[in-house]
Amino acid sequence: MQIILVFSGRMCYNKEKTGDDATMEHKQWYKDIAVYQIWPRSFCDGNGDGIGDLTGVIEKLDYIKSLGVDAIWFSPLYPSPNADYGYDIADYRDISSDYGTLEQFKTLLDEAHKRDLKIIMDLVINHTSDQHKWFLESKNPDSPYHNYYFWRKGRKGGKKEPNNWLSTFQGKAWEFCKENGLYYLHVFAKGQPDLNMDNPQVRQEVKDIIRFWLELGVDGFREDVITFISKKEGLPNGFPLPTATGIEHYMNGPHLHEYLEEFRAVQEEYDCFTVGEAPMMTPKRALKFIGEDGHRVLDMMFHFEHMNCDNMLTNFLRTPFRPGKLKKVYNNWQTGLYGKAWNANYIENHDQPRIISRYGSEKFRVESGKMLATMYILQSGTPFIYQGQEIGMLNANIPTIDRYKDVSSINTYELMKKLHVPEKFIMWIIQYASRDNARTPMQWSAEKNAGFTTADKPWFEVNANYPEINVAAAEADPNSILHYYRKLLRFRKDNAIVRYGDFTMLKTQKEVFAYVRTYQGQQMLVVNSFSDQVQPFRAPETFAMCEEELVLGNYEQNAVVHNGCLLRPFETRVYLKKA
Ligand code: NOJ
Repeated sequence: MQIILVFSGRMCYNKEKTGDDATMEHKQWYKDIAVYQIWPRSFCDGNGDGIGDLTGVIEKLDYIKSLGVDAIWFSPLYPSPNADYGYDIADYRDISSDYGTLEQFKTLLDEAHKRDLKIIMDLVINHTSDQHKWFLESKNPDSPYHNYYFWRKGRKGGKKEPNNWLSTFQGKAWEFCKENGLYYLHVFAKGQPDLNMDNPQVRQEVKDIIRFWLELGVDGFREDVITFISKKEGLPNGFPLPTATGIEHYMNGPHLHEYLEEFRAVQEEYDCFTVGEAPMMTPKRALKFIGEDGHRVLDMMFHFEHMNCDNMLTNFLRTPFRPGKLKKVYNNWQTGLYGKAWNANYIENHDQPRIISRYGSEKFRVESGKMLATMYILQSGTPFIYQGQEIGMLNANIPTIDRYKDVSSINTYELMKKLHVPEKFIMWIIQYASRDNARTPMQWSAEKNAGFTTADKPWFEVNANYPEINVAAAEADPNSILHYYRKLLRFRKDNAIVRYGDFTMLKTQKEVFAYVRTYQGQQMLVVNSFSDQVQPFRAPETFAMCEEELVLGNYEQNAVVHNGCLLRPFETRVYLKKA
């Protein structure tokens, strides 16, 4: 029987369902789940060739399940020349031979479903690889595929690019093709030509791809830079910026909602979940796409505002970490969406350096790793956990550019070199900000290559700290970050207040982020310190911490005087009480 709970003017559905009632719950399960993200190349190598693969993932399914997550999001598994490690797709209906076969993927799907783990695929449709057959054909102006992409004549008799747009990965956003004398648009790397979504045939292809994977049994999609897919007609010049010039003409473009509505219609035929990647998104704008008012075209969105608290819009413009900004961003998203839409909460992914090295402290690795986990997982929304985050992996800090693999880091290095920025300063930025920090192989054990591969050499170097930081060591230590993640996710599952409570941020000094969640006569107080010094904290008068149960924390309990306490470095405390 479906039970509808009405509170604070909004509705939510509980998990019980039978027969036809199941349709009522359709689109609701994603609120209860936690998702684990796999970047397949670096997760686990099952066949000993130095590259992560599906066999490796199947071996680790029980481990993933043991974390208390309910779904896996795979970064792209498709065939790709790897100009941008999988985000340049050469065939949307197959699995890269680096990772296995479509048959193995079906086995993985079965094995995951047997364990009640859902599978979410990456849907990369803003661009393809330049090796995709559509693109190869499109070079011919007479081909029906020509209009699948943005082919344009150059300005000034063909000598200059068609407009002034710059790639988000540095350099021009246009590449000249000798074969046809035209330029093609690539907002990302030159191996990633942008698809022309205004062409109805392209949208039909996208719908067919969506159907293909849903028919196979996958449960949803993470939609890559989905807010870039509709470009302004005429591709006008953009406001000059040091990078990504033109972005105002393709981010949240004129037909975005319309196109997503078309894709949604297919997705709605299935019990399909969607999360869209949305750079520079604000809560107000997000409601247009994810608002639960009948017009929504995605279930949730990944915004970036909370990832810009130690930089200025791009990770490569590095600034000191500002906890005050982080709190403001979270407060805006939590209160802005509550009861109207659903948050997608993450602090790491394959594009972000490791969070402890950024917003926490490598010195207080265990304390700050647990605090950061508590801080975001106990907010309203669906938590996403990136491989290695659960054991507190740190930035790799690779010292020289020749050892990097990521196209955006390499291009940024080259650009800064051209601008005569001193090498030392460039590397100070790259070491901290590179996406490669998140892409080193998963650290499974203290064995050779961190237990990631039996090959002599993994495809990418292992972080030198693997003898101390690895899954086996974390399993053996009851105080580890890993065990804490399990506790935290269990707590979220067992307490509806974590999933459905409202959110009020408390006024505190900038280093302390404290909030109260309230739900059906219960209150939960979550206190997090971002400081390596002792910080005083006072809860509201009505919240006598000394009388309430400390349900989660990262230190031994210490003295609490009525509603006040001293927080130790990176301390986190969670209290539950009846309202
Ligand atoms: C966002 C993905 O997360 C990132 O890894 C990729 O480089 C760009 N989109 C382009 O696909």
